[in-house]
Amino acid sequence: MAAPTARKLHYVIWTVGCQMNKADSERIENFLDRQGYVPTAEVQQADLVILNTCAVRRSAEEHTEGQLGQLAGLKKRQPNLAVAMTGCMVVSDVQVMQRRYPMVDLFFSSLTPESLQPLVERPPDEPVAAVFDPTPIEVGPETASSLLQAQRAQEVMRYIPIIYGCDEHCTYCIVPARRGREQSRPVDEIVTHVEEVVSEGAREVTLLGQIVDRYGHDLPEKPDLALLLERLNGVRGLERIRFLTSHPRYIDERLIEAMRDLPKVCEYMHLPVQHGDDAMLRRMGRPYRITDYERLVERIRTKLPDCSVSTDVIVGFCGETEEQFNALLRFLERIRFDVVHVAAYSPRPGTASERHWADDVAGQIKKERLWAVEALQEQIAREINTALIGTSQEVLVEGQERDSGSRWKGRTRTNKITFFSVQEESPQAGAGLNFTGRLLRVQIVHASARALQGRAVLCSLPEA
Ligand code: SAM
Ligand code: SF4
Ligand code: F3S
Repeated sequence: MAAPTARKLHYVIWTVGCQMNKADSERIENFLDRQGYVPTAEVQQADLVILNTCAVRRSAEEHTEGQLGQLAGLKKRQPNLAVAMTGCMVVSDVQVMQRRYPMVDLFFSSLTPESLQPLVERPPDEPVAAVFDPTPIEVGPETASSLLQAQRAQEVMRYIPIIYGCDEHCTYCIVPARRGREQSRPVDEIVTHVEEVVSEGAREVTLLGQIVDRYGHDLPEKPDLALLLERLNGVRGLERIRFLTSHPRYIDERLIEAMRDLPKVCEYMHLPVQHGDDAMLRRMGRPYRITDYERLVERIRTKLPDCSVSTDVIVGFCGETEEQFNALLRFLERIRFDVVHVAAYSPRPGTASERHWADDVAGQIKKERLWAVEALQEQIAREINTALIGTSQEVLVEGQERDSGSRWKGRTRTNKITFFSVQEESPQAGAGLNFTGRLLRVQIVHASARALQGRAVLCSLPEA
């Protein structure tokens, strides 16, 4: 009779927030993987649930609090279930956290997944002491098990953090308080990390930082983003490189020229403006004027005519008048962004705006302003995308469209989601082929504000 095998311990990671959190969750997965834990999609099957949280707006915290309520109920039925919390909702005062969220066994910094050790090692049924150690450690790339590698093989695009933290002082923003000072990863470490994800199947990487353009200023040899892009452009098997988030104050000509000259760097820039009125920008602690921003976009578009530009804006910030809001709408009409992410201002504890100014735009007005931005942007994006009908776009295929047997999904170099069918010019061209991870040329036949649709013609397949 075969000896009974020990049951593997299972974990679930629930991730909310931005791409940086997604990348941090990968690091946590790598750690748990090395400890012999296995991922599961079923929370009922899990021995450990990790919540990777976001605090950028109150609504993000409420989402996590809902999940915590659910977990508190589950813990009554599964007393061995351990719950750990990380990400931007975690503050360094553990007692405060324990009082607020008694159902959580351990709080930790996502920079140090090793802090999960006491939970991983605890004998079943033993309560766990909450710890929090926010000291950043050297986080190099790590090899994942074949199980995790197999799971990631489907992921054509991967996120690579290149600079942690933020030294900026936007008055509304909680991120610097929760993510600490800027800390760049060394160039060689990033190159190795990218080579590793490419060996796992990735074809595109998105380099991450709160202000990605500030990459390298804190390293001894002072590399910059342009230099890093040049190094990564040489990684074999990698097809595309993107980076997020840019800040209007820190983009320089060297970067714009690197984007123009390096074939793998895509024509796409995420450049949050936050508002369209100078007095609002000043109050927000954004160190530029609207005319500076407009000139910058003009320079980008002159050197990179096809570059798509997306932005973030906040409506209903402290003291925002109808006139200032209208200035924002007019600004959006002038620039014509490809994508605008709009958020209603949410006062965050301890930030300068929360301490100094009243949150004096009524909730209903904030909503109406948000809807007005969305409606205007919908129209602009539809017009921009409609102009692409009839063109042929290079699409990196990310997989099949969900619930569709025959349609595929990918993105253009300008980051536009594209759904397409494969038109077979030769009898066997498309049959049964898996296009995931391939670059195809897609003829665009339809466009909406959010996506493109088209047909790929498979007569001249590029080399795999
Ligand atoms: N570092 C980036 C930057 O410089 O814009 C992004 C940081 S933040 C994680 C993403 C977006 O959330 C910001 O661009 C801003 O529009 C929005 N945001 C930040 N704090 C906010 C607040 N208190 N209320 C509403 N939106 C906020
Ligand atoms: Fe927040 Fe401003 Fe830093 Fe972006 S640049 S993370 S908005 S403080
Ligand atoms: Fe990202 Fe939210 Fe933190 S947007 S940086 S996870 S506050």
